[in-house]
Amino acid sequence: MQLIKNIHILTVFLSLGGFILRWIWVMQDSPRLQQRWVRIAPHVNDTVLLIAAITLAVNIHQYPFVDGWLTAKVLALLVYIGLGMATIRHGKSKQQRIITGLAAILVFVYMLGVAKTRHAFLFF
Ligand code: HEM
Repeated sequence: MQLIKNIHILTVFLSLGGFILRWIWVMQDSPRLQQRWVRIAPHVNDTVLLIAAITLAVNIHQYPFVDGWLTAKVLALLVYIGLGMATIRHGKSKQQRIITGLAAILVFVYMLGVAKTRHAFLFF
């Protein structure tokens, strides 16, 4: 199960790295964003991330909408995805993309905190 956990953590950081890279490219109006692999790779990575996540949850018999910390992670992931889409795809201005991008990173750090502490409310 350590292997699955390592895959989960690897794909988690690939997701963050891929997001930051695309964020930089969108700020630079770079044509690199249109490359085929840049459009496909995030979906492949997210699929592996989620399969590993579900496997881990089943392994420790803890589930979203049953256990608070996993519920918090899933909800935060949805917010992270929304902010990511706002930053890369739908942002109306660069200023807006900076704000949503920073917010996405904050949510990501929150998810790392939830994963480490197994607690939705990190500071209580
Ligand atoms: C929403 C889908 C997710 C689910 C269901 C999920 C589930 C899990 C589970 C059950 C574990 C514990 C594994 C164990 O201790 O045996 C775990 C570990 C971990 N998750 Fe997730 N995860 C999800 C998404 C994420 C995301 C988006 C991140 C990063 C932002 C993340 C970061 C981590 C990290 C860093 C660990 C290792 C914590 C440690 O050191 O023990 N997970 N995840």
